[in-house]
Amino acid sequence: MSEGSNRIVRPAQNINGSVRLPGDKSISHRYAMLSAMASGTTKLDNFSAAADCRSTLDCMQKLGVQVRQNERHVEVDGIGMQLTAPTEPLDCGNSGSTMRMLSGILAGQDFESELIGDSSLTNRPMARIIEPLRMMGATVAGTSDSKPPLHVRGGKLKAIDYKPKVASAQVKSCVLFAGLFADGKTTIEEPVRTRDHGELALRAFGAEVERTQTRVSIAGGQSLKAIEAYVPGDMSSAAFFLCAASLFPEANLVLDNVLLNPTRAGILDILTLMGGRVSFLQVEQQQFELIGTIRFQSGKLKGARISGAQIANLIDELPVLAAIGPYTEEGIEIRDARELRVKESDRIGAGVKNLRAMGATVEEFEDGVRVPGGQKLHGAEVDSFGDHRIAMAFSVAGLKAEGETLIRGAEAVAVSYPSFYEDLERLVAG
Ligand code: S3P
Repeated sequence: MSEGSNRIVRPAQNINGSVRLPGDKSISHRYAMLSAMASGTTKLDNFSAAADCRSTLDCMQKLGVQVRQNERHVEVDGIGMQLTAPTEPLDCGNSGSTMRMLSGILAGQDFESELIGDSSLTNRPMARIIEPLRMMGATVAGTSDSKPPLHVRGGKLKAIDYKPKVASAQVKSCVLFAGLFADGKTTIEEPVRTRDHGELALRAFGAEVERTQTRVSIAGGQSLKAIEAYVPGDMSSAAFFLCAASLFPEANLVLDNVLLNPTRAGILDILTLMGGRVSFLQVEQQQFELIGTIRFQSGKLKGARISGAQIANLIDELPVLAAIGPYTEEGIEIRDARELRVKESDRIGAGVKNLRAMGATVEEFEDGVRVPGGQKLHGAEVDSFGDHRIAMAFSVAGLKAEGETLIRGAEAVAVSYPSFYEDLERLVAG
């Protein structure tokens, strides 16, 4: 099925079976960072297998922290709030989350560090974190257009009350992590509510965080305590299988121990509105996060218009929703999603090119796409554009196309989900 880094996807008959997803990437990053500064040894089960989270662990090791990993089990020996000056640049790989959130911690460290990344990350905007960290008193510099590499020289910080222009959970976590080192109460007020794993992880590690709907505050000078935790399965990875299942009338998919945090479960709401059926087989709270086992059965696939405040909670699921758009009855329209242009690839441009390669009619806007429904796609050569979510989205589109689809650069899936194709093959055969 694979040819070098390319992958062939053939039409499928059904999606059936259960899958245990890799640990949530957003939570894994945050636990890895906070555990480094905690007192004691943090023990994490089902830690994300993503290359991105490996980048975070590698950076924490370069900052003087002992990390032991045995497959999905990770142990981190915390060294307290002051980390050790790195002797080489901190390589964040493809991971914007690593670079943006770690910068918040480095802003509180009494040394200078350099953060570097791959060619995709080197093109991503960093002004969104440079601005608040400078306001707090850190010295932070990127290139002349505020892109990586970043140089961060930290120290004692001032508390700020900050309203970012973009809705970004990475920026929120960055500012809250820096707030741990500030003299007073740091507040961030989001334009719309984004995923809240930063706040919940801080609480899990023993910090006090206050919040209302869109304002979150943290007092400086708090210390963190190690935790033992199971990282819930990644809903953004599950989204590919949920969307695949929604294409087949007989589909039956069980997701074990998956993250059900309402700021991440927007995909369940959209698929339910389109006609799918979700049953909650078991739900509980662990480390302030909702986790559970769900069953998804397909029904109609009506279509949807997604815009405004819905975007933040579906941001990583938009490529796959666009990719199944042609197979829906009424189509998929996505607006107010300009942020997709500055993800691991330009996800609007990449999605439009691939949909057209597969024979779809699609309208492109600066802030989104309109994909009419009731279309048939044919297999074609499509490109991942080096972006894990584009590779997985078009693998899903290929399951219902006529003929074979070749995914160029399919190895990109390792950034968030190294075993994606093995798990997909099991569900297709199921
Ligand atoms: C993430 C936030 C989102 C998301 C990214 C992970 C996080 O990015 O796209 O994959 O873990 O906070 P933004 O903060 O840029 O919206």
